[in-house]
Amino acid sequence: MINESSKITPWEVSGNLDYEKLIKKFGVSHLTELPKIFNKEILFRRKIIFAHRDIQRILEIIKSKKPFVMMTGLMPTGKFHIGHMILAQQMVFYQKLGAKIYIAVADIEAYNARGQSLEESRKIALEEYVSNYIALGLKPANCEIYFQSERSKDAKKANAYYRLQNVLARHVNFNEFKAVYGDINPGKMLSSLLQASDMLHPQLKEFEGQIPVLVPVGIDQDPHLRLARDISKRVKGFIQLSSTYHLFISGLGGGKMSSSESSSYIALTDSEKDVERKIKKYAFSGGRATLKEHQEKGGNPDIDVSFQYLKFFFEPNDEKLKEIEEKYRKGELLTGQLKEYTIKKINSFLKVHQKKLAKSKKKIRRYLK
Ligand code: TRP
Repeated sequence: MINESSKITPWEVSGNLDYEKLIKKFGVSHLTELPKIFNKEILFRRKIIFAHRDIQRILEIIKSKKPFVMMTGLMPTGKFHIGHMILAQQMVFYQKLGAKIYIAVADIEAYNARGQSLEESRKIALEEYVSNYIALGLKPANCEIYFQSERSKDAKKANAYYRLQNVLARHVNFNEFKAVYGDINPGKMLSSLLQASDMLHPQLKEFEGQIPVLVPVGIDQDPHLRLARDISKRVKGFIQLSSTYHLFISGLGGGKMSSSESSSYIALTDSEKDVERKIKKYAFSGGRATLKEHQEKGGNPDIDVSFQYLKFFFEPNDEKLKEIEEKYRKGELLTGQLKEYTIKKINSFLKVHQKKLAKSKKKIRRYLK
Protein backbone atom coordinates (compact mmCIF):
# COMPACT_ATOMS: atom_id res chain seq x y z
CA MET A 1 0.00 0.00 0.00
CA ILE A 2 0.95 3.65 -0.21
CA ASN A 3 2.21 3.83 3.32
CA GLU A 4 1.37 1.66 6.22
CA SER A 5 -1.64 3.56 7.45
CA SER A 6 -3.16 4.63 4.15
CA LYS A 7 -5.73 2.80 2.12
CA ILE A 8 -7.20 3.57 -1.24
CA THR A 9 -9.95 1.66 -3.01
CA PRO A 10 -13.01 2.98 -4.87
CA TRP A 11 -14.97 2.59 -1.68
CA GLU A 12 -12.53 3.72 0.93
CA VAL A 13 -9.82 6.33 1.12
CA SER A 14 -7.92 6.87 4.35
CA GLY A 15 -4.53 7.91 5.63
CA ASN A 16 -1.95 10.15 3.99
CA LEU A 17 -1.70 9.86 0.26
CA ASP A 18 1.58 10.05 -1.55
CA TYR A 19 0.57 10.90 -5.11
CA GLU A 20 3.96 10.08 -6.60
CA LYS A 21 3.76 6.58 -5.18
CA LEU A 22 0.19 6.25 -6.38
CA ILE A 23 1.22 7.20 -9.91
CA LYS A 24 3.80 4.43 -9.84
CA LYS A 25 1.62 1.89 -8.13
CA PHE A 26 -1.37 2.38 -10.43
CA GLY A 27 0.76 2.84 -13.54
CA VAL A 28 -0.77 6.14 -14.62
CA SER A 29 1.30 8.92 -16.22
CA HIS A 30 2.03 12.49 -15.22
CA LEU A 31 -0.01 15.02 -17.09
CA THR A 32 2.40 17.30 -18.93
CA GLU A 33 2.35 19.45 -22.03
CA LEU A 34 -1.29 20.19 -22.50
CA PRO A 35 -2.49 22.42 -25.34
CA LYS A 36 -2.80 26.10 -24.43
CA ILE A 37 -6.55 26.04 -24.23
CA PHE A 38 -6.31 23.87 -21.11
CA ASN A 39 -4.57 26.71 -19.31
CA LYS A 40 -7.87 28.52 -19.13
CA GLU A 41 -8.94 26.05 -16.52
CA ILE A 42 -7.34 26.58 -13.12
CA LEU A 43 -7.42 22.88 -12.36
CA PHE A 44 -5.10 22.12 -15.27
CA ARG A 45 -3.00 25.24 -14.93
CA ARG A 46 -2.27 24.51 -11.28
CA LYS A 47 -1.78 20.76 -11.75
CA ILE A 48 -4.72 19.79 -9.58
CA ILE A 49 -5.56 17.44 -12.42
CA PHE A 50 -2.20 15.74 -12.38
CA ALA A 51 -2.22 12.35 -14.10
CA HIS A 52 -3.78 10.47 -16.99
CA ARG A 53 -4.07 7.34 -19.06
CA ASP A 54 -4.17 7.68 -22.84
CA ILE A 55 -4.97 11.40 -22.89
CA GLN A 56 -3.13 11.75 -26.20
CA ARG A 57 -6.04 10.29 -28.10
CA ILE A 58 -8.34 12.96 -26.71
CA LEU A 59 -5.87 15.77 -27.38
CA GLU A 60 -5.62 14.71 -31.01
CA ILE A 61 -9.38 14.56 -31.33
CA ILE A 62 -9.70 18.04 -29.85
CA LYS A 63 -7.07 19.32 -32.24
CA SER A 64 -8.84 17.91 -35.26
CA LYS A 65 -12.21 19.06 -33.92
CA LYS A 66 -13.71 15.58 -34.08
CA PRO A 67 -16.40 14.43 -31.63
CA PHE A 68 -15.66 12.79 -28.30
CA VAL A 69 -17.48 11.93 -25.11
CA MET A 70 -16.63 12.96 -21.57
CA MET A 71 -18.18 10.40 -19.25
CA THR A 72 -18.23 10.46 -15.50
CA GLY A 73 -20.37 9.44 -12.59
CA LEU A 74 -21.35 10.53 -9.15
CA MET A 75 -22.25 8.74 -6.00
CA PRO A 76 -25.08 10.84 -4.62
CA THR A 77 -24.42 11.00 -0.90
CA GLY A 78 -24.90 14.06 1.28
CA LYS A 79 -24.44 17.69 0.40
CA PHE A 80 -22.82 19.05 -2.73
CA HIS A 81 -19.61 20.65 -1.46
CA ILE A 82 -16.64 22.47 -2.95
CA GLY A 83 -14.80 19.18 -3.54
CA HIS A 84 -17.49 18.22 -6.03
CA MET A 85 -16.78 21.33 -8.05
CA ILE A 86 -13.61 19.71 -9.39
CA LEU A 87 -15.59 17.36 -11.61
CA ALA A 88 -18.31 19.88 -12.36
CA GLN A 89 -15.76 22.36 -13.70
CA GLN A 90 -14.33 19.70 -15.98
CA MET A 91 -17.79 18.89 -17.33
CA VAL A 92 -18.31 22.53 -18.21
CA PHE A 93 -14.80 22.85 -19.66
CA TYR A 94 -15.09 19.81 -21.96
CA GLN A 95 -18.62 20.68 -22.97
CA LYS A 96 -17.34 24.05 -24.18
CA LEU A 97 -14.65 22.21 -26.11
CA GLY A 98 -17.41 20.34 -27.93
CA ALA A 99 -17.58 17.08 -25.98
CA LYS A 100 -20.83 15.28 -25.42
CA ILE A 101 -21.24 14.86 -21.67
CA TYR A 102 -22.54 11.63 -20.13
CA ILE A 103 -23.15 11.61 -16.39
CA ALA A 104 -24.14 8.47 -14.49
CA VAL A 105 -25.87 8.81 -11.16
CA ALA A 106 -24.46 5.79 -9.36
CA ASP A 107 -27.60 4.95 -7.43
CA ILE A 108 -27.07 1.21 -7.82
CA GLU A 109 -23.53 1.57 -6.52
CA ALA A 110 -24.76 3.68 -3.60
CA TYR A 111 -27.28 0.95 -2.83
CA ASN A 112 -24.76 -1.90 -3.03
CA ALA A 113 -21.73 -0.23 -1.48
CA ARG A 114 -23.34 2.23 0.93
CA GLY A 115 -26.79 0.81 1.65
CA GLN A 116 -28.58 3.94 0.48
CA SER A 117 -32.06 3.55 -1.03
CA LEU A 118 -32.69 4.32 -4.69
CA GLU A 119 -35.29 6.95 -3.73
CA GLU A 120 -32.85 8.74 -1.46
CA SER A 121 -30.16 8.68 -4.14
CA ARG A 122 -32.53 10.10 -6.73
CA LYS A 123 -33.56 12.95 -4.48
CA ILE A 124 -29.99 13.86 -3.52
CA ALA A 125 -28.74 13.54 -7.10
CA LEU A 126 -31.30 15.99 -8.45
CA GLU A 127 -31.51 18.46 -5.59
CA GLU A 128 -27.85 18.58 -4.72
CA TYR A 129 -25.73 17.48 -7.68
CA VAL A 130 -27.59 18.18 -10.92
CA SER A 131 -28.88 21.56 -9.80
CA ASN A 132 -25.36 22.60 -8.83
CA TYR A 133 -23.92 21.38 -12.14
CA ILE A 134 -26.47 23.58 -13.89
CA ALA A 135 -25.66 26.57 -11.71
CA LEU A 136 -21.96 26.00 -12.42
CA GLY A 137 -22.61 26.24 -16.15
CA LEU A 138 -23.46 22.79 -17.53
CA LYS A 139 -25.77 23.19 -20.54
CA PRO A 140 -28.57 20.78 -21.51
CA ALA A 141 -27.65 20.40 -25.17
CA ASN A 142 -25.04 17.69 -25.66
CA CYS A 143 -25.52 16.38 -22.16
CA GLU A 144 -27.13 13.22 -20.84
CA ILE A 145 -27.64 12.58 -17.17
CA TYR A 146 -29.04 9.17 -16.26
CA PHE A 147 -29.53 6.85 -13.32
CA GLN A 148 -27.81 3.48 -13.19
CA SER A 149 -31.15 2.03 -12.10
CA GLU A 150 -32.98 3.62 -15.04
CA ARG A 151 -30.78 4.13 -18.06
CA SER A 152 -33.37 5.28 -20.54
CA LYS A 153 -37.05 5.28 -21.35
CA ASP A 154 -36.02 4.13 -24.83
CA ALA A 155 -35.95 0.34 -24.47
CA LYS A 156 -33.37 -0.14 -27.21
CA LYS A 157 -30.92 2.09 -25.39
CA ALA A 158 -31.65 0.70 -21.94
CA ASN A 159 -31.33 -2.87 -23.16
CA ALA A 160 -28.00 -2.11 -24.80
CA TYR A 161 -26.57 -0.63 -21.59
CA TYR A 162 -27.63 -3.51 -19.33
CA ARG A 163 -26.73 -6.08 -22.01
CA LEU A 164 -23.23 -4.65 -22.08
CA GLN A 165 -22.88 -4.91 -18.30
CA ASN A 166 -23.83 -8.57 -18.54
CA VAL A 167 -21.71 -9.57 -21.50
CA LEU A 168 -18.68 -7.87 -19.98
CA ALA A 169 -18.90 -10.34 -17.09
CA ARG A 170 -17.46 -13.17 -19.18
CA HIS A 171 -14.27 -11.24 -19.78
CA VAL A 172 -13.11 -10.90 -16.21
CA ASN A 173 -12.36 -13.48 -13.54
CA PHE A 174 -12.67 -13.54 -9.79
CA ASN A 175 -8.95 -13.18 -9.12
CA GLU A 176 -8.85 -10.00 -11.14
CA PHE A 177 -11.68 -8.60 -9.06
CA LYS A 178 -9.81 -9.48 -5.91
CA ALA A 179 -6.55 -8.02 -7.20
CA VAL A 180 -8.21 -4.79 -8.28
CA TYR A 181 -10.60 -4.23 -5.36
CA GLY A 182 -9.35 -6.26 -2.44
CA ASP A 183 -12.49 -6.79 -0.44
CA ILE A 184 -15.25 -7.73 -2.89
CA ASN A 185 -18.79 -9.09 -2.76
CA PRO A 186 -21.52 -9.77 -5.36
CA GLY A 187 -23.09 -6.31 -5.07
CA LYS A 188 -19.78 -4.55 -5.51
CA MET A 189 -18.91 -6.86 -8.37
CA LEU A 190 -22.10 -6.00 -10.19
CA SER A 191 -21.52 -2.31 -9.48
CA SER A 192 -18.08 -2.39 -10.99
CA LEU A 193 -19.38 -4.19 -14.10
CA LEU A 194 -22.10 -1.58 -14.31
CA GLN A 195 -19.50 1.14 -14.02
CA ALA A 196 -17.56 -0.53 -16.84
CA SER A 197 -20.76 -0.36 -18.87
CA ASP A 198 -21.15 3.32 -17.89
CA MET A 199 -17.74 4.03 -19.34
CA LEU A 200 -17.99 1.88 -22.47
CA HIS A 201 -21.65 2.12 -23.50
CA PRO A 202 -21.38 5.54 -25.20
CA GLN A 203 -19.54 3.64 -27.95
CA LEU A 204 -22.43 1.26 -28.66
CA LYS A 205 -24.36 1.77 -31.86
CA GLU A 206 -27.50 2.61 -29.85
CA PHE A 207 -25.62 5.62 -28.46
CA GLU A 208 -22.77 7.45 -30.26
CA GLY A 209 -21.11 4.53 -32.06
CA GLN A 210 -17.34 4.03 -31.76
CA ILE A 211 -16.01 7.25 -30.28
CA PRO A 212 -13.17 8.22 -27.92
CA VAL A 213 -14.32 8.52 -24.32
CA LEU A 214 -12.55 10.51 -21.61
CA VAL A 215 -13.29 9.70 -17.98
CA PRO A 216 -12.08 12.30 -15.46
CA VAL A 217 -12.07 10.95 -11.91
CA GLY A 218 -10.43 11.15 -8.50
CA ILE A 219 -7.47 8.79 -8.28
CA ASP A 220 -9.43 6.45 -5.99
CA GLN A 221 -11.57 5.49 -8.99
CA ASP A 222 -8.64 4.14 -10.96
CA PRO A 223 -9.35 0.50 -10.02
CA HIS A 224 -12.67 0.80 -11.88
CA LEU A 225 -10.78 2.13 -14.88
CA ARG A 226 -8.17 -0.58 -14.80
CA LEU A 227 -10.85 -3.21 -14.81
CA ALA A 228 -12.85 -1.55 -17.60
CA ARG A 229 -9.70 -1.06 -19.68
CA ASP A 230 -8.64 -4.67 -19.24
CA ILE A 231 -12.06 -5.90 -20.23
CA SER A 232 -12.25 -3.52 -23.15
CA LYS A 233 -9.02 -4.96 -24.55
CA ARG A 234 -10.63 -8.39 -24.60
CA VAL A 235 -13.94 -7.38 -26.14
CA LYS A 236 -13.83 -6.28 -29.75
CA GLY A 237 -15.12 -2.99 -31.01
CA PHE A 238 -14.19 -0.41 -28.36
CA ILE A 239 -11.69 2.40 -28.58
CA GLN A 240 -9.64 2.22 -25.38
CA LEU A 241 -10.78 4.56 -22.59
CA SER A 242 -8.82 7.67 -21.70
CA SER A 243 -8.84 9.07 -18.18
CA THR A 244 -7.51 11.90 -16.05
CA TYR A 245 -7.00 12.02 -12.29
CA HIS A 246 -7.32 14.90 -9.89
CA LEU A 247 -6.00 15.45 -6.39
CA PHE A 248 -8.27 15.09 -3.42
CA ILE A 249 -9.20 18.34 -1.79
CA SER A 250 -8.46 18.49 1.95
CA GLY A 251 -11.29 18.67 4.36
CA LEU A 252 -11.37 21.72 6.61
CA GLY A 253 -9.54 19.91 9.37
CA GLY A 254 -6.86 18.70 6.99
CA GLY A 255 -8.20 15.13 6.63
CA LYS A 256 -10.69 13.92 4.07
CA MET A 257 -13.54 16.12 2.87
CA SER A 258 -16.55 13.97 3.58
CA SER A 259 -20.21 14.60 2.83
CA SER A 260 -21.14 12.91 6.06
CA GLU A 261 -19.15 15.34 8.24
CA SER A 262 -20.34 18.94 7.95
CA SER A 263 -17.32 20.36 9.77
CA SER A 264 -15.12 18.92 7.00
CA TYR A 265 -16.62 20.80 4.05
CA ILE A 266 -17.97 24.04 2.68
CA ALA A 267 -21.28 23.23 0.98
CA LEU A 268 -22.40 25.31 -1.96
CA THR A 269 -25.51 26.13 0.00
CA ASP A 270 -23.68 27.30 3.12
CA SER A 271 -24.58 30.80 4.34
CA GLU A 272 -22.07 33.62 4.77
CA LYS A 273 -22.12 32.96 8.50
CA ASP A 274 -21.53 29.23 8.02
CA VAL A 275 -18.52 29.92 5.85
CA GLU A 276 -17.07 32.39 8.31
CA ARG A 277 -17.61 30.09 11.25
CA LYS A 278 -16.26 27.00 9.50
CA ILE A 279 -13.13 28.65 8.17
CA LYS A 280 -12.38 30.38 11.47
CA LYS A 281 -13.10 27.41 13.63
CA TYR A 282 -12.07 24.40 11.55
CA ALA A 283 -9.75 25.37 8.69
CA PHE A 284 -6.39 23.79 9.42
CA SER A 285 -3.72 26.45 9.46
CA GLY A 286 -0.12 26.35 8.31
CA GLY A 287 0.59 29.29 10.56
CA ARG A 288 2.84 29.22 13.62
CA ALA A 289 1.74 28.93 17.22
CA THR A 290 2.52 32.54 18.15
CA LEU A 291 2.57 35.80 16.26
CA LYS A 292 6.24 36.25 17.01
CA GLU A 293 7.16 32.82 15.74
CA HIS A 294 5.03 33.28 12.62
CA GLN A 295 6.72 36.56 11.81
CA GLU A 296 10.15 35.09 12.39
CA LYS A 297 9.83 31.70 10.73
CA GLY A 298 6.89 32.18 8.37
CA GLY A 299 3.85 30.02 7.67
CA ASN A 300 3.44 26.96 5.46
CA PRO A 301 0.91 27.43 2.64
CA ASP A 302 1.42 23.81 1.48
CA ILE A 303 -0.50 22.47 4.43
CA ASP A 304 -2.76 25.47 4.98
CA VAL A 305 -6.33 24.59 4.08
CA SER A 306 -7.48 28.16 3.39
CA PHE A 307 -4.60 28.58 0.98
CA GLN A 308 -5.48 25.30 -0.72
CA TYR A 309 -9.05 26.46 -1.29
CA LEU A 310 -7.80 29.71 -2.83
CA LYS A 311 -5.51 27.69 -5.05
CA PHE A 312 -8.13 25.16 -6.16
CA PHE A 313 -11.00 27.56 -6.75
CA PHE A 314 -11.31 30.97 -5.23
CA GLU A 315 -8.26 32.97 -6.33
CA PRO A 316 -8.21 32.74 -10.13
CA ASN A 317 -5.56 35.44 -10.41
CA ASP A 318 -2.19 33.64 -10.54
CA GLU A 319 -0.15 36.67 -9.55
CA LYS A 320 -2.30 37.40 -6.57
CA LEU A 321 -2.10 33.78 -5.47
CA LYS A 322 1.68 33.84 -5.74
CA GLU A 323 1.86 37.04 -3.73
CA ILE A 324 -0.28 35.49 -0.98
CA GLU A 325 1.88 32.38 -0.97
CA GLU A 326 5.10 34.34 -0.70
CA LYS A 327 3.88 36.69 1.98
CA TYR A 328 2.56 33.80 4.00
CA ARG A 329 5.82 31.90 3.72
CA LYS A 330 7.72 34.97 4.87
CA GLY A 331 5.39 35.50 7.80
CA GLU A 332 4.20 38.88 6.51
CA LEU A 333 0.69 37.56 6.08
CA LEU A 334 -0.89 36.18 9.23
CA THR A 335 -3.25 33.22 9.52
CA GLY A 336 -6.13 35.44 10.61
CA GLN A 337 -5.64 37.67 7.57
CA LEU A 338 -5.41 34.70 5.21
CA LYS A 339 -8.61 33.31 6.68
CA GLU A 340 -10.42 36.64 6.36
CA TYR A 341 -9.40 36.87 2.72
CA THR A 342 -10.52 33.31 2.01
CA ILE A 343 -13.87 33.86 3.72
CA LYS A 344 -14.43 36.96 1.60
CA LYS A 345 -13.54 35.17 -1.63
CA ILE A 346 -15.69 32.12 -0.89
CA ASN A 347 -18.65 34.25 0.12
CA SER A 348 -18.53 36.42 -2.95
CA PHE A 349 -18.47 33.29 -5.10
CA LEU A 350 -21.34 31.70 -3.18
CA LYS A 351 -23.48 34.80 -3.36
CA VAL A 352 -23.56 34.68 -7.15
CA HIS A 353 -23.73 30.89 -7.24
CA GLN A 354 -26.70 30.66 -4.90
CA LYS A 355 -28.71 33.02 -7.08
CA LYS A 356 -28.09 30.76 -10.06
CA LEU A 357 -28.88 27.71 -7.95
CA ALA A 358 -32.30 29.09 -7.06
CA LYS A 359 -33.17 29.19 -10.74
CA SER A 360 -31.55 25.93 -11.76
CA LYS A 361 -34.03 23.62 -10.02
CA LYS A 362 -36.64 24.36 -12.66
CA LYS A 363 -34.33 23.33 -15.48
CA ILE A 364 -33.39 19.86 -14.26
CA ARG A 365 -35.82 17.99 -16.49
CA ARG A 366 -34.03 19.16 -19.64
CA TYR A 367 -30.92 17.23 -18.63
CA LEU A 368 -32.53 13.84 -18.06
CA LYS A 369 -32.87 11.82 -21.22
N1 TRP B 1 -17.87 5.07 -8.67
C1 TRP B 1 -18.05 6.48 -8.84
C2 TRP B 1 -18.02 7.17 -7.44
O1 TRP B 1 -17.94 6.52 -6.45
C3 TRP B 1 -19.30 6.85 -9.56
C4 TRP B 1 -19.37 6.32 -10.97
C5 TRP B 1 -20.30 5.45 -11.47
C6 TRP B 1 -18.51 6.66 -12.05
N2 TRP B 1 -20.12 5.27 -12.79
C7 TRP B 1 -19.03 5.98 -13.20
C8 TRP B 1 -17.39 7.46 -12.19
C9 TRP B 1 -18.42 6.09 -14.43
C10 TRP B 1 -16.77 7.56 -13.42
C11 TRP B 1 -17.30 6.87 -14.54
O2 TRP B 1 -18.08 8.35 -7.34
